[in-house]
Amino acid sequence: MFDKLETLDDLLEMQLEDLYSAEKQLVKALPKMAAKANDPQLRQGFETHLQETENHVARLEQIGEALDISLGGHTCKAMEGLIAEGQETMSERATDEVMDAALIAAAQRVEHYEISGYGTAAHYAERLGHSEAAALLRQTLAEEQNTDTKLNTLAKSYINAKAL
Ligand SMILES: [Fe+2]
Ligand SMILES: [Fe+2]
Repeated sequence: MFDKLETLDDLLEMQLEDLYSAEKQLVKALPKMAAKANDPQLRQGFETHLQETENHVARLEQIGEALDISLGGHTCKAMEGLIAEGQETMSERATDEVMDAALIAAAQRVEHYEISGYGTAAHYAERLGHSEAAALLRQTLAEEQNTDTKLNTLAKSYINAKAL
């Protein structure tokens, strides 16, 4: 926790701590979402994104070392809330088809939160001249965007239709 945020560097550090906590929470949540998914492509999508998410944690650790900041010790309350809501959804009684549509709705909320965080952090890093950190953040951002697009495609191509 900062005594006082004085520079954009301080704010970048705060953003990175938040993302680090968010990603670590997701490493625990994604296997549960994969297990709950009925559609094989959706399940595979969650499993693939779990592997990517483990990389997102590793990239943040790499950035933390390069910038000499420790990222632990903060809890992202927004991600706690998003995951809690997702768990609430998963405990509902629902048909397989509706549960799959609901899992996508929960997962896209998470991806949009991450996209927002990484977009901001990447921009700060660029502005501050931390070009390697910025490149790593942009790489993760692209994977979050790609995941969001894939979820959207699954929902719109057949999953929502099956839930009608
Ligand atoms: Fe991520
Ligand atoms: Fe993600």
